Amino acid sequence: MKKFKTLLASALIIAMAAGCSSSAPTTGGDTGSTDAKTYNVGVAIYQFDDNFMTLYRNEIESYFKTLETDEVKYNVTIVDGKNDMAEQQNQIDNFITQGMDVIILNLVQTSSADATIDKVVAAGIPLVLINREPLGENGDESYKGILDNPTVCYVGADARQSGTFQGEIIAELPDHGDLNGDGKISYIMIEGDPENIDAQYRTEFSIKALTDAGLTVECLDDQVGNWAQAKGEEITSNALSQHGDAIEVVFCNNDAMALGAAAAIKAKGRTVGKDIYLVGVDALDECQEMVKNGEMTGTVLNDHIGQSHTAVDVAVKALNGEKLDNYYWVDYVKVTK
Ligand code: GAL
Repeated sequence: MKKFKTLLASALIIAMAAGCSSSAPTTGGDTGSTDAKTYNVGVAIYQFDDNFMTLYRNEIESYFKTLETDEVKYNVTIVDGKNDMAEQQNQIDNFITQGMDVIILNLVQTSSADATIDKVVAAGIPLVLINREPLGENGDESYKGILDNPTVCYVGADARQSGTFQGEIIAELPDHGDLNGDGKISYIMIEGDPENIDAQYRTEFSIKALTDAGLTVECLDDQVGNWAQAKGEEITSNALSQHGDAIEVVFCNNDAMALGAAAAIKAKGRTVGKDIYLVGVDALDECQEMVKNGEMTGTVLNDHIGQSHTAVDVAVKALNGEKLDNYYWVDYVKVTK
């Protein structure tokens, strides 16, 4: 299993105050301070139209601001990959041409990790991969492109943990999710982008937590909702029409899809906590509210603050010429009433 660790921002702030720099930042800039160094930071997000990654990218931007001093400024450019790998490759090419001092990258497709890493490394730019983990051949965190390149690292959370927490939330209910008492938990699964390891692991490990607890499960439906609220609603609505009361648990790989599922559950006259259970991942503010008032059974905090701050701290480390670890992990947190 991976070890989870979180960086302390303070150590890096001290390192910054020491002012050691190995790259060639712009001097001056529009900062008002003639002596300030301005580092150019390129941030490529897989898609702006994603609730969780919107929180994440906004936090990257605002956290960089908090790290600015009279001596150091960060000129942060954030671009929208529009879920299109070709578009994102162009954006990375542009970042290289523009001479970014560091790049933070949320890949559209992890299958393109090697091609992207190669060109950024060749350009001599440090690269911080976030949120979408490229997987090593043996299915663990050891990705060759990261291990082999000291200026490339990954910042993220272990999706196995989030899936396990989802399953545990159901297993820990008084009836263990078996509302109708027939000895099995009948569920539907709504998956994110299937190429994404977060979707694969959450799907697998949520159910594994139930079977590991000695419970019997029955999958009534398993559909791809691509992280999107509207798809979550449509899939749940169709599944409820088809399977009706037989559905006891709706597992969603993220909260956006759970928001859609909640709307469909309400529209069909079902009540979460009474005749159906619903779990998501991310702990969006609105979903935390829903957990509090019973409209969702639970969710799992995908710590966008911890992850974005770690990504920025690591980028600053790279700008300061400090050695990077290969991986930086941030823990998920179980959220129930
Ligand atoms: C997941 C998150 C999803 C979605 C996805 C994008 O970690 O839970 O809501 O943002 O990342 O890759």
